[in-house]
Amino acid sequence: MANKLGIRGYDYVEFFVGSAKVWAYWFSKATGMKITAYAGPETGIRNKVSYLLQKNDLKILVTSPVKPDNYEIYNFIQRHGDGVKRWTLNVNDVEYAYNHAIKNGAIPTIKPRELKDANGIYLEAAIKLYDDAEISFVNADEYHGIFQPGFGEPIHNYEVETHETGLKIVDHIVGNVRENEMNFWVDYMNAALNFETFVDFGPGDIGTEYSALLSKVVRSEDTLIRNPVNEPYKGKRKSQIEEYIEEFCGTGIQHIAIRSENIIETIGAMRKNGIEFLSTPPATYYESLKERDLKVEEDIDELKENGILLDPESDGYLLQIFTKPVGDRPTFFFEVIQRKGGSQGFGKGNFQALFEAIERDQAARGNL
Ligand code: FE2
Repeated sequence: MANKLGIRGYDYVEFFVGSAKVWAYWFSKATGMKITAYAGPETGIRNKVSYLLQKNDLKILVTSPVKPDNYEIYNFIQRHGDGVKRWTLNVNDVEYAYNHAIKNGAIPTIKPRELKDANGIYLEAAIKLYDDAEISFVNADEYHGIFQPGFGEPIHNYEVETHETGLKIVDHIVGNVRENEMNFWVDYMNAALNFETFVDFGPGDIGTEYSALLSKVVRSEDTLIRNPVNEPYKGKRKSQIEEYIEEFCGTGIQHIAIRSENIIETIGAMRKNGIEFLSTPPATYYESLKERDLKVEEDIDELKENGILLDPESDGYLLQIFTKPVGDRPTFFFEVIQRKGGSQGFGKGNFQALFEAIERDQAARGNL
C-alpha cells in the first residue's frame, strides 16, 4: 500500500541546539549513531555548523549558529532552548507534495527550491508546523554527494566506546500544543498531508488525579508516518503538556519514538551509554501483567528490570519506554518502541503509565 502524496518515509529530523559539536558527541556516545556528514566554515558554510548522524534508517541533523547574522537559529534557541526545528518527509515529487499541502491550507515557509553543486541537485520545500517548527519535503534522487550541497566528509570522527543500541528508524513524532489547538493541527496535517485521524484519546481516557491530556494521532494511509498531537486537559493541577509549553515557550515537538527490534537489549545498551529513563512503573504494574496471562515472548521480569512498559493490542503488543528530557529544559525526550505481531497503536495503557511517570518528575521540578 502506498500513499497518495508520494511519501516514502521520514527522512532526517533537525535539531537547533546551542552547541552542535557537543550534541554530535552525545548522539555518538548515547545512541551509537555515526557522524556521516558535516557542514560549516570548512565546507564553505559561514554562519552555521551542522552534523549529520546516522544509524540504520535513522537520520538526525544537529545545527548551531556560529555567526551573529544567523538570527533564525539564535531566535529559536533563545526562545525554546535545544529542540526539534523540523521533521522531513522523503517524497517522490517535492513540488507535487508542497503544492498539494498549500492548496489544502498549509502555511508555506520554504517554497520549492533546488540546492545545487557539482554532485547534483537536492530538492526541498517546507510548511509551517506548530509555533516555530516545520515539515519539510525532500528528494535527493538527483543528488550524488554527501547528504546535501554544502556538506562534506565529517571533520570529527569520535572514536567513542559505545554499546550497540540497535536503534532502527523513526516510528512516530509527537507535538504538544495549547488548549483548543489540537484539532487545528490535526485538521491541518490531515488536509495538507492527506492524513487521517487514527486514534482519539478523549476526556477521561488519559489522566491522573491531578492533570490530564487529550491526544489524537494522525497518520498516512499506509501508516508509514504517524504523528500524535497532545493538548492539556483540565485537572486539579498543571498538566504536563502545559509544563512543556511554559518551559519551551511555545508549542513544539515533545518526543520522537525510535523503533528497536529487541527493546530489552536496546535499553540495556542505552543505559550503559549513560541515557536516563523515566522511573520504572511500580512493581504492581508487572504483577498485574503476569496475572493477565498474556501471550508475550519476553520475560516479564526482564521487562521489569529495564522499566519497559507493555500494552497488549488486538494485533500483538507494544513495548515502550521513555527517556528523561535530554536537554536542560524539561521539554524534548526520546521514546524507544518495539511493535510485536503487527501492533499499530499507541498503547493507551502505556500512555497512562508514561503520563504518571512524567508527573512524578514534574512534581520533583516543582511544576505540578
Ligand atoms: Fe510516543
